[in-house]
Amino acid sequence: MTNFQVKTYDEYQQAYQRSLEDPESFWSDIASTFTWRKKWNTTLEWNFEEPDVKWFKGGKLNITENCLDRHLKTRGNKLALIWEPNDPKERFVRYTYRELHEKVCQFANVLKKNGVQKGDRVCIYMPMIPELAFAVLACARIGAIHSVIFAGFSAVSMADRINDAGAKMVLTSDGLNRGAKQIPVKRVVDEALETCPTIEKVIVVERLGWAVNMVEGRDVWYHDEVKDVSKECPAEIMDAEDMLFILYTSGSTGKPKGVVHTCGGYMVYAEYSFRNVFQYEESDIYWCTADIGWITGHTYLLYGPLLAGATTLMFEGVPTYPDMGRFWQVCDKFGVTIFYTAPTAIRSLMGGDIDDVLSYSLDSLRVLGSVGEPINEEAWHWYHTHVGKERCPVVDTWWQTETGGIMISTLANVTPMKPSHATLPLPGVHPILVDSDGKEITENGVEGHLCIKHPWPSMIRTTYGDHERCRLSYFSTYKGLYFTGDGAKRDENGLYRIIGRVDDVINVSGHRFGTAEIEEAINHNNHVIESAVVGFPHDVKGQGIYAFVICKDKPENEEWLRAEIIETVVEKIGKIARPDKIQIVSGLPKTRSGKIMRRILRKVAEGDVSNLGDTSTLLDPAVVDEIVEGSLSKAKV
Ligand code: WT7
Repeated sequence: MTNFQVKTYDEYQQAYQRSLEDPESFWSDIASTFTWRKKWNTTLEWNFEEPDVKWFKGGKLNITENCLDRHLKTRGNKLALIWEPNDPKERFVRYTYRELHEKVCQFANVLKKNGVQKGDRVCIYMPMIPELAFAVLACARIGAIHSVIFAGFSAVSMADRINDAGAKMVLTSDGLNRGAKQIPVKRVVDEALETCPTIEKVIVVERLGWAVNMVEGRDVWYHDEVKDVSKECPAEIMDAEDMLFILYTSGSTGKPKGVVHTCGGYMVYAEYSFRNVFQYEESDIYWCTADIGWITGHTYLLYGPLLAGATTLMFEGVPTYPDMGRFWQVCDKFGVTIFYTAPTAIRSLMGGDIDDVLSYSLDSLRVLGSVGEPINEEAWHWYHTHVGKERCPVVDTWWQTETGGIMISTLANVTPMKPSHATLPLPGVHPILVDSDGKEITENGVEGHLCIKHPWPSMIRTTYGDHERCRLSYFSTYKGLYFTGDGAKRDENGLYRIIGRVDDVINVSGHRFGTAEIEEAINHNNHVIESAVVGFPHDVKGQGIYAFVICKDKPENEEWLRAEIIETVVEKIGKIARPDKIQIVSGLPKTRSGKIMRRILRKVAEGDVSNLGDTSTLLDPAVVDEIVEGSLSKAKV
């Protein structure tokens, strides 16, 4: 039985109060509703200095027993997973909880047969096909640590992540469908593996039926391996604090960091937050459009809904193929009741013909969600009016890869909703705003840096292989607090509005990049001496990437050079990090100590050059005039 889904505002307030007064009994009661092989000894041990956080210490469990086995008696024939392919003419596929259990066990047996053991790291680089879901859960089943890499990342990015994790195996496919395009995934893996000595095996799932290069002794086809394995696979018993997965994300330095989540706390928070935010009901058909390569796909496409025994929909394609009505067509086709997507998708569809939405009934929808970046009021209203028909609440969910689950959000039809506001924290989450000295601001109607002052079960435990980096990134800016990197406002009524990053991280279509990471990639180009990257407001992507680049010699053809620089970024990171604008400059605005004044570059990138502030402290103030002039002329793409 679940007793942790609050249903009224009163219940919300009571739960919130209780979580403040006695967080341990609050979380311990919630955790008790799960299947544990052994109960925990202590609910929470923590200190934010190290940091060292342990939830449910001594508890033993397997998250897949909670996602699958525990539902078999009551929901064995209920649909667990619906898979809708890229091409609407191809048939969709459905799996009941019993079938999904079998598929996961089979995949787990294939992993074991190919040498994967508890604690091994397995890299998953796959398109949005059912086998991706099986693969993730199969790792969890046998206690292997999954590290999913979004299949849009380049070979170089993949290799960096594989090497950082010391992964033993890659799970991939021959190719993938993305709208009208087909992409040779296995070729990218082959290229990456040229520099990955720890990889022993590659398992390839057939999606396109392409002939691909198979390395003897290293690469095997999934369909061959699965032929003679059992449909049963006992779940490995894990400690609550054993690693469940690593997921790489960008920070303000060049190298992405491996955010580590552990089994017990992540499980508890995934179901808890899923049920409360979306106000899940047994008959719901739930669709989260995120790719499993991102944390949203981990927590709210797979783990959260499956833990709750829900029917979750997985979509291989893109919102604009074969036309701009694809999302709404899928909603009608399956009678989707809860729909969770990103502002960037909404903004791109807003640009289309309104009939692409209005020609679908969308009658089944009852809750809409938004995630990944601030949702501007225009997009919020379009979503609420045309998709939700003013009938469905829009829950604007704020969270991060590091938080593991939704932290601040309206609970659908339970707590207040306000356009462009994430609103209130979930019970058990204790956000505060601090000023630049780290002093807590307690009034309402204020703005500050968003921090969390008490641990929650699904919080980051470490950054893989480098605990100090975890401490420095999140726990050292403000003593005794987890610092999110976001700035936020709290309105007169105490509702939060997330403004955006206050560090050198930019958010492009809901994807996070460190400016340093993109600069590092650009600097690999032979013609480039130095570069500085900033974000700028972009109508569809939220933020676009603007690069200021200093070249060795005056380029003969600036067009070609820009194309080459873009090519370098695509090669080092992937298409998703392509700069939108590249301006060739002869110098960058630097302080006398050599620090780039990004504030000035940001203003230029925004097109707001009327007031650049004090530039007299710069090493070479004249450079600013040149940059402004260049930005106004055609010296950029
Ligand atoms: C950053 C985290 C959480 C899953 C997807 C992104 C921004 C996220 C919101 C929101 C305003 C948001 C923040 C955050 N962000 N959700 N509802 N409103 N901003 O995960 O890649 O770890 O990025 O995304 O800036 O710090 P992520």
